[in-house]
Amino acid sequence: MLTKQRQITPEQLHESLKNIRVGGTVCHYSLKKCAELVPVINEINELKEELNAVILVHSYVSPEIVYGVGDYVGDSYALSKNAMETKADVIVFAAVRFMGETAKIMNPGKEVLIPTALDGCTLADSINAAEVRRLRRQFPGYTFVCYINTTAEVKAECDVCVTSSNVYKIVERVPSDKIYFLPDKLMGQNLVNEMYARGVHKTISYYTGACYVHEEYGQDQIFRIRTEYPNVKVVSHPECSPAVVAHSDFVGSTAEMLGYMRETESKEFLMLTECGLSSRLQKEFPEKKLVGTCTLCRYMKSNTLEDILRVMKNPAPRDRVVLDEAVRRRAARTIEAMFHYTRQ
Ligand code: 13P
Ligand code: SF4
Repeated sequence: MLTKQRQITPEQLHESLKNIRVGGTVCHYSLKKCAELVPVINEINELKEELNAVILVHSYVSPEIVYGVGDYVGDSYALSKNAMETKADVIVFAAVRFMGETAKIMNPGKEVLIPTALDGCTLADSINAAEVRRLRRQFPGYTFVCYINTTAEVKAECDVCVTSSNVYKIVERVPSDKIYFLPDKLMGQNLVNEMYARGVHKTISYYTGACYVHEEYGQDQIFRIRTEYPNVKVVSHPECSPAVVAHSDFVGSTAEMLGYMRETESKEFLMLTECGLSSRLQKEFPEKKLVGTCTLCRYMKSNTLEDILRVMKNPAPRDRVVLDEAVRRRAARTIEAMFHYTRQ
């Protein structure tokens, strides 16, 4: 949980964000820029109390949102738990549409607002419900495991949902030896390799989708950086290619990546994921050094403070998550299966 003052000054915001310098000028905070951001931040924080609202923010979203108005920041698993457990009447989900949908699936009685300007993402858009139904006919007897980065309609057609923090554990625990994983092909390949390494014998097929941010990274980038910085720790996300994963020191969800950096003595890190995690590193661990570059996710970065304020004051129909009740119930069963296997 992030603690917030009701009203902050430009100086306080600047002090908090001044170490962040990633993504060119996108995440770079001068005192002048902070003075422009503060009135909106203060208005959102006031309105939050009036509406009894909570703001959930994925780590990839811009730092002024994470540290200015966010109540919780985390990976998709932690945020879906926060969404399930919150006592707030209104959930504002600054991330991507399908994360807001997950909050609504678990909280049908609450208002869920999504400020993102762009719907979906390359991964979630790679598959739809009709395609899952077709695959189920093609792969009878398989347990369909969907990544959380899918729409509610796709979740409704599957058996169990997973996130980057529990995919291996869940696939190992599911009492089925035939698994169809969707939609990420790179994560699917990593899953096959990891099950083999763990001695788990299951037949695993996977779909063809990919995340445009993570598929960009290659092993050559790691080799180059290791030549220049021999002590660097390479930290990557399981949406990266198997070659990147094989040459990484640590692979995990965004929250696990941050946890690894917190606990690792090393001073230099190459982060193979979206820039939001690099900015969290610069803010929260200023003594550690980032080497190499990071990549921006245009979907996560399409959240703005202005849109958060707008959806809280006067939401348009597309800002409010509304789900067909039959779809919601079936998708809830898939998400509950994830919590069941994670707890086991
Ligand atoms: P995490 O669950 O690891 O935060 O991943 C979400 C995501 O969108 C990665 O691209
Ligand atoms: Fe989708 Fe990739 Fe962006 Fe995550 S980083 S939201 S998977 S496009």
